[in-house]
Amino acid sequence: MAVQKLARIGIVGAGAMGRGIAQLMAQCGCETLVFDLDRTASEGALAFVAGIWQRLVEKGRMTTSDAEAARARLSQVDSLAKFARCDLVIEAIVERLDAKTALFCELETIVAQNTILATNTSSLSVTKIAAACTRPERVAGLHFFNPAPLMKLVEIVAGERTDPQVTAALAALIARTGHHGVTVGDTPGFLVNHAGRAYTTEALKILAEGVAAPVTIDAIARDAAGFRMGPFELLDLTGLDVSVPAMQTIYRGFYQEPRLRPVEIGRRRLAAGLLGRKTGEGFYRYADNGEQLPAESVEEQAGDLPDRVAIAGTDWAAERLAGWCKGLGVEIVDPSAETLTLVAPVGTDTATECARSYTDPQWTIGVDVCFGLDSHATLATNPATRPEVAGQALALARKNGAAASLVRDSAGLVLQRIVALIVNLACDIAQQAIARPADVDAAVKLALAYPRGPLQWGDAIGPGIVLEILDGLVETTGDPRYRPSPWLSRRAKLGLSLLREEP
Ligand SMILES: NC(=O)c1ccc[n+]([C@@H]2O[C@H](COP(=O)([O-])OP(=O)(O)OC[C@H]3O[C@@H](n4cnc5c(N)ncnc54)[C@H](O)[C@@H]3O)[C@@H](O)[C@H]2O)c1
Repeated sequence: MAVQKLARIGIVGAGAMGRGIAQLMAQCGCETLVFDLDRTASEGALAFVAGIWQRLVEKGRMTTSDAEAARARLSQVDSLAKFARCDLVIEAIVERLDAKTALFCELETIVAQNTILATNTSSLSVTKIAAACTRPERVAGLHFFNPAPLMKLVEIVAGERTDPQVTAALAALIARTGHHGVTVGDTPGFLVNHAGRAYTTEALKILAEGVAAPVTIDAIARDAAGFRMGPFELLDLTGLDVSVPAMQTIYRGFYQEPRLRPVEIGRRRLAAGLLGRKTGEGFYRYADNGEQLPAESVEEQAGDLPDRVAIAGTDWAAERLAGWCKGLGVEIVDPSAETLTLVAPVGTDTATECARSYTDPQWTIGVDVCFGLDSHATLATNPATRPEVAGQALALARKNGAAASLVRDSAGLVLQRIVALIVNLACDIAQQAIARPADVDAAVKLALAYPRGPLQWGDAIGPGIVLEILDGLVETTGDPRYRPSPWLSRRAKLGLSLLREEP
């Protein structure tokens, strides 16, 4: 399908998304026409965007002449018929398949043969919308994030029958706006919402297993992995009314793929109305002004600092543990009675490592050697650990001023299981060719603000170690949600980067 440069753009729907997309399009030099069934919405959108440009001029971030030129390019129309000469129409109307297909069918009777029709849907199938059209090859997804002018990532979604020239033209347009476009397959959640399933879902699972309180899990995620927000802070911000249906839709969309299985506690808290910030209470409580109220302190008291410690095991993890203990200036002795003994579970739990190394569980503590040893250590008890032994381990971990949290026994502790799942899900997205590996990393960093792209993160940890964590999780829990993606296991076995594509 021959596609010309996209210069004249129609936008249907002038709500939260439509107005942001209109701003972006007019700013990048496109003549932009806005239509909304509700005329006050399109008028409101124009006034809103004009107000933003005025503020940008006042702050010196836009010149007066650029703002005037953009304003001249943006107008509202009172009927879809005015879109007859548009090169591209982007819809951002209500998220209902019947409404979107009816709109596209009507648009096909108005626009030219080679006009592209794009949908900003976040959860519907682009292929299904296209299937209702006489020319499905001209239909694609153009998924902006909210707020569209500020969120730099745009998913360009190729439906089953979308012409590659259509996605290429959309990619060129997005490049002109200064945003970053990634072309992705039309699978549930596209790329970003699919890749984003691991972080909060695994955190909910950790909570449901009684491993630690939300405030502890959040602190570990921020301090030891560099997430801007802990998973429970993020769930409270998004709202369970948005997150829980998204988890369920994507899980069902992939025919109950265990890696994407939601956790029941989310549905229960949603039913209770504990949505998050919008209802004043979620995993945290919020004051009327929106400020998060301090969570009840769960800070565990450190005990007596031990002068010696035993380390069980001889593998790389035990060696890393020994290096940490040496750095803390504590004498390392052979395991013996009544001595604090540390084990380093990798995907397994403290109890498993105790049994493996025949240490006394009352005196044994697990330490996460993959994350946070120098920033925020995660220490795990086991069902037999004595409280004073846990206190000794905390005193040791905090000796040089770093933070440390004590959690209940957990396969993969806290961050091993969260981060390994993030990496694994990204690997499987690459395996399914939903997006190119480099695009997976760029999209996750831009849209989800993770500290690293997940594939690059897996490389930094070491693909072999990520595989070891996942194998340990499968062995300890028997749960197929942890089974490694073939993308990961092949590259780990061959010593290749997770970003490596097959020729
Ligand atoms: N809000 C977000 O965070 C977000 C992010 C990404 C994608 N999306 C998607 O973008 C789309 C729009 O979302 P929104 O948040 O802007 O919704 P919104 O409710 O703020 O705005 C929708 C607008 O569309 C208008 N409208 C509804 N049906 C119409 C029709 N048939 N013809 C013309 N106008 C019509 C409404 O009057 C309203 O002004 C949805 O598909 C949504 O899933 C939303």
